[in-house]
Amino acid sequence: MCPHRLATLSQGRIDQWGRLQCVYHGWCFSGSGECKLIPQAPLDGPPVHTFQRACVAVYPSVVQNGIVWFWPSLDPQYKDIITKKKPPYIPELDDPSFTYKIFQRDIAYG
Ligand code: FES
Repeated sequence: MCPHRLATLSQGRIDQWGRLQCVYHGWCFSGSGECKLIPQAPLDGPPVHTFQRACVAVYPSVVQNGIVWFWPSLDPQYKDIITKKKPPYIPELDDPSFTYKIFQRDIAYG
């Protein structure tokens, strides 16, 4: 969730510098959650993009079979969980002779 107006960052895009850009007002974030750009901030003003409140949470995540998997916890004990507990591998998803459809379903629980 974007710290600015809580827009869904999953609907953002990756810009030419590899930053996640919020779809709403264009704030940009690094892979470690630091805010790297607030387009509306004056260049000669305070560096508001460096403020802690402008940063986003970073969850352990990995892309496998073209799917983004993430561990929904910010608890430091799970920081490296993706290296220890891999998501299920589905070889058919990488096989070009198979077809499949991807869809998203939001499930309202933690
Ligand atoms: S809500 Fe993300 S930049 Fe404004």
